Amino acid sequence: MSESILSRRSFIQMSGAGAVAMSGLSPGVTDGGAHEKPVNPDPQTHHFSMTIEEAQVTIARDLKAKVWAYNNQVPGPLIHVVEGDTIEAAVVNNTTATHTVHWHGVPMTGTWWMDGAPGINQEAINSGGGEFTYRFVANRPGSLWYHCHVEVPNHVGVRGMWGPLIVDPLEPLPIEKEVTREAILMFTGWNSKVANDYFATEDPTDHLDFYSINGKCFPYNQPIRVKEGDVLRLRLYAATVGVAFHLHGHDMLVTHQDGLPMPAPYWADTVAVAEGQRKDVIIRMNNPGRWPAHDHNEHHLSNGGDTPGGLFTIVEYEGIESDPWYLWAKKEYDPDFYFSESLKQGYGLIEQSGFKADAVPDEAGLAAAETVQVRMMDRGPDGTAKVFDPGFVRISRGQSVEFVPWDFGHDLESVPGLIPEGAAPFSAPKNAGALVRFDKEGLYAYQCIAHRAIGMVGLIAVGHSSHDKAGFAEKIASSPELSEGARLRLMALLEKL
Ligand code: CU
Ligand code: CU
Ligand code: CU
Repeated sequence: MSESILSRRSFIQMSGAGAVAMSGLSPGVTDGGAHEKPVNPDPQTHHFSMTIEEAQVTIARDLKAKVWAYNNQVPGPLIHVVEGDTIEAAVVNNTTATHTVHWHGVPMTGTWWMDGAPGINQEAINSGGGEFTYRFVANRPGSLWYHCHVEVPNHVGVRGMWGPLIVDPLEPLPIEKEVTREAILMFTGWNSKVANDYFATEDPTDHLDFYSINGKCFPYNQPIRVKEGDVLRLRLYAATVGVAFHLHGHDMLVTHQDGLPMPAPYWADTVAVAEGQRKDVIIRMNNPGRWPAHDHNEHHLSNGGDTPGGLFTIVEYEGIESDPWYLWAKKEYDPDFYFSESLKQGYGLIEQSGFKADAVPDEAGLAAAETVQVRMMDRGPDGTAKVFDPGFVRISRGQSVEFVPWDFGHDLESVPGLIPEGAAPFSAPKNAGALVRFDKEGLYAYQCIAHRAIGMVGLIAVGHSSHDKAGFAEKIASSPELSEGARLRLMALLEKL
């Protein structure tokens, strides 16, 4: 029997895996949460405030992305508690879109309305200062996380709305007590096409082309520094993209999945983590050197086509001399990039200056440059008579629409009752057109005064997620301002929302 197999066996014994297998926690007998739970003798309540901010982060040299950032940082701040503690998080939404916090992995026993799915557990938290306080017992230990649950492909997929929730177990495995270094790695993707457009209409996760660990693509992320003899735990979070995580030069013992101890921990040099999943791996650092650690899905290893990039980092042992050709020879080291220092700071919500986002560049200036044109036409591109083209447009708050008299004889005015409450009516005189800026979120219907009888109408959606489509359809149906033709065309346009 080789030495390495021997040492593996003793490692597993030390890990307590045998004991776990014999104590009735085998799969199929009970689920992970159903065994008798240890009782926290001194449960704490952690009160903290969370905000959601409109901000911009730099993912790689060539990519900045607009995000909605929990406490103005990506990843969101570390939340660290002990099994059985209570979390009371008062959330304020300072953005122009609605959001929630879903606490992924917390069973929410008896508090299902705190689970954060909008329209199912709660109403989404309103934009512009809406508040909601989550209160629940963190009665499931391990590597959990939190993320928004509103329009998930956008908010979670490409807007940075995710962060780690670590719940220390009351009864850690023996191997966990040996851990000397901790690192949290959250794997996510980005879409450079929509990175600067909060309200892009295409599915933002269709074209992921940048990939990051803790919000930075290689080589803009950080090394994981260790010394010989360390017992390193990596908490691998496939937050938005699945990975096949490979560490060179070492075997990893997979000890936990989704926070729960594995019934049979196993060794691997490549660990598959599916989207949403977490796996904890523990590694004896006994092979000094510099070692790549990376996703083995090649598609995730470039920054918009440039390699090396993406989901890649380097494990550096203390005492290995640098070389002039080493690509991180001049790296400025941040010891907390993988939350290693934050995890030692006790409990509660721990913010991190290194992850703070920047202010979004001046929206008004940006919006002015992106005026959308709508042509007033006798015959549309598809042959329809008397149309606004495009009939439906979606714009950001603060953006303008220019109504262009493509053919003459048309004028327009907003339809009373079919614009957001408090928004200013708008109009354009015959043959002149108009430039109109929209500062209030919501749906705006307008029609040609000359051709209202035959239903020459248009629809503008300003802002993002929270449009009340059904309510607007009812208003269209009952509006005394509209002809029957206008009603039909408006309903068709509303379908494009
Ligand atoms: Cu959100
Ligand atoms: Cu989730
Ligand atoms: Cu490799």
